[in-house]
Amino acid sequence: MKLRTELALTFDDVLLVPRRSSIRSRRAVNTQTQFSRRIALSIPIVSSNMDTVTESAMALAMARLGGIGVIHRFMSVERQAAEIERVKRAEGFMVEHPLSVPADASVQQARNILAAHNIGGLLVRGNNGEVLGLVTTRDLLFERDADLPVTAVMTPREQLVTLSPGTSLDAARETLHRHRVEKLPVVDGTGQLQGLVTARDIIQIEQWPDATKDDRGRLRVAAAVGVRPSDEDRAAACVQAGADALVVDIAHGHADTAIGMIRALKAHFPEVDVIGGNVATAEGVRDLVEVGADAIKVGVGAGSICITRLVTGFGVPQLTALDECAAAGHALNIPIIADGGIRIAGDITKALAVGSSTVMLGSLLAGTDESPGAAVIRKGRRYKVVRGMASLSANINRQEIDQRREIDPEDWERVVPEGVEAMVPARGPVHDVVHQLVGGLRSGLSYAGAATIEELWANAEFIRITAAGRHESEVHDVTM
Ligand code: XMP
Repeated sequence: MKLRTELALTFDDVLLVPRRSSIRSRRAVNTQTQFSRRIALSIPIVSSNMDTVTESAMALAMARLGGIGVIHRFMSVERQAAEIERVKRAEGFMVEHPLSVPADASVQQARNILAAHNIGGLLVRGNNGEVLGLVTTRDLLFERDADLPVTAVMTPREQLVTLSPGTSLDAARETLHRHRVEKLPVVDGTGQLQGLVTARDIIQIEQWPDATKDDRGRLRVAAAVGVRPSDEDRAAACVQAGADALVVDIAHGHADTAIGMIRALKAHFPEVDVIGGNVATAEGVRDLVEVGADAIKVGVGAGSICITRLVTGFGVPQLTALDECAAAGHALNIPIIADGGIRIAGDITKALAVGSSTVMLGSLLAGTDESPGAAVIRKGRRYKVVRGMASLSANINRQEIDQRREIDPEDWERVVPEGVEAMVPARGPVHDVVHQLVGGLRSGLSYAGAATIEELWANAEFIRITAAGRHESEVHDVTM
């Protein structure tokens, strides 16, 4: 038995001491950072791999804002791959494998595909893969005969404006404008389809200059996988769908199962970054990095919906955990992701200042429009559900997905939850929430006299505070 008697701290136990600053405005700071060894971000924010936080809508929004989302794994492999594909297809100056239908597809089949993928147009292809035409939502809108072949309503090949492979972004924009069209199939000399350029994609690219993109101009996305042997198949499907990083998602990541999984993923998918976790000690960081982890997720029991510390007695208060883990991460040149317990913008600055490269947010983003699930109304106010991934309902859902059957309520008692189900106020678009959080961080950097997150690491000085100090930090002695 060992008893460590030094005080372990979390965000509310400390404040950052203001430092002399030459920063003239919040705009003068740079929030660039590393999510993992090879993936850079413009803002240090990652949306959590929870089923009430990150599916494709959240991942898309996060990547456009300059962060990244981790698509959760509590769904079938096929669905997770489809969620990833939706992000990878969303943007990019040219869609490389645009969806198409054969000439004998019906109007109804085309409608179904457009709705399922939330897109506005489909190429119609001939028997040898050649482009026969283009069918868009406008062609289908008022067509009464759903059984009609798409060839009857499409714009035929000879009337289509097309591009040849290798056309630049500027030339594509010019062609869209000159012909007043919204879609340009990219067709090679033999008539074979090579891609599709859409006005919507070009507008998106220009609207989000800080977006997190891969070297082909597509938005980046990460995918969570578990540690069972079958998760290697899940990982393969995610990589095939275009995942840029795999996050090994296990509550106690300093475990042989997690170490084995990281090693296997690194061996099979050397082109994607693998994130290990969750750990709360320097030894945990070192053991996962030793087998190849490209970033480490830190946080045991810190999350808003976690009861791991209550149920098991284990955990390390988050600021101390980050301090210890970041020292190990910096020595190995591996970024640390501060996962759990972030409630306000100031917590983000503290989590980064202690040495983390990014923060992972769960309940703070669960109330936004982009999180999965609809809002519920309680006493006239709108809320969204957030639940721990080790909560009772998440556990039962997971078993139902794995076993493809309903779990008998009598079996529910066997579950020992380490998380809870809860509600958070609906907060509107994630863009607005992230804008506030990053605004707070930018201000924080200027208080630290730091133009970058690396300078924040160097300049940060924490001071421990008392309960009275904390009370003084909050709004006090006024009626809100
Ligand atoms: P926040 O505070 O941002 O935390 O909501 C999100 C993180 O909490 C972790 N998480 C859990 N931890 N039991 C736990 O002990 C759970 O059921 C649970 N679900 C999520 C996870 O690391 C997440 O990113």
